Amino acid sequence: MQKSRMTIPMLHQKKQAGEKIAMVTAYDYPTARLAEAAGADIVLVGDSAANVVLGYETTIPVTLEEMLHHTRTVSRGIEHALLVADMPFMSFHISREETIRNAGRFMKETGATAVKIEGAGARCGMVEALKEAEIPVMGHIGLTPQSIYRFGEFRVQGTMADQAADLLDAALALEQAGAFAIVLELVPTELASTITSRLSVPTIGIGAGPDCDGQVLVFHDLCGLNEPGTKRPKHVREYVDGWNLLLGAVRSYVDDVRAGSFPDDAHSFHFKSKQLDEFHRRVNPVSEE
Ligand code: KIV
Repeated sequence: MQKSRMTIPMLHQKKQAGEKIAMVTAYDYPTARLAEAAGADIVLVGDSAANVVLGYETTIPVTLEEMLHHTRTVSRGIEHALLVADMPFMSFHISREETIRNAGRFMKETGATAVKIEGAGARCGMVEALKEAEIPVMGHIGLTPQSIYRFGEFRVQGTMADQAADLLDAALALEQAGAFAIVLELVPTELASTITSRLSVPTIGIGAGPDCDGQVLVFHDLCGLNEPGTKRPKHVREYVDGWNLLLGAVRSYVDDVRAGSFPDDAHSFHFKSKQLDEFHRRVNPVSEE
């Protein structure tokens, strides 16, 4: 039987049935194909593209045009997963009109099914506006990387009872505003568990413990593609030592080229014999004496 495309109602059914939702980030066609082949329910074109693909230190600099470009490339690799595009910093802050216009570009130009925006508070109005414009929105609270300069550092949020109660209120407000799911990033397990049980929409955790309705990891983190020496956050499980695996392959290629052992005959092409004779005749004409 052909697998059908994941929809938002199907995600809501998964929550009701207690079935976990697997979400992973992708940034281009090959990462999209891998996420799709692995059977991910949701593929997120995260603005973590800024860090893992574009080499920026934070997610602040990535532009709307860059995120549209990445989402288009991912979209071409997606058949079944729900495709969510992350709206970059400053693309959903200025006004409801501008937020709808920018989110609308993801829907019309990339093939995304939904967008994700970080924050609650003033952002709930944007979620409401997007819902009114028929644009499904995923919320994101806890450690929201676009607010890194306010937080000062990447650390667990909601560890104090007051903060935790504020985050629960934020999740409820986002659900009320119309978010179809909410990412909980770097919050205590007990808080994520309470939020998950109080919401009717699914929670997707990252560093939020095992009780969320789903989980998300950044592709490059789970594949171990970060350079040795870079900090490995506690919440990440590396499923393969991708850096050393790929480094070994590229190093062997460089060594083979230098040694003259690549390409060999098995990776080369030859003339058919008649064409070879003809070619020799043309480039080495026999002189008439
Ligand atoms: O940008 C991103 O990759 C994200 C996920 C980690 C949730 O926002």
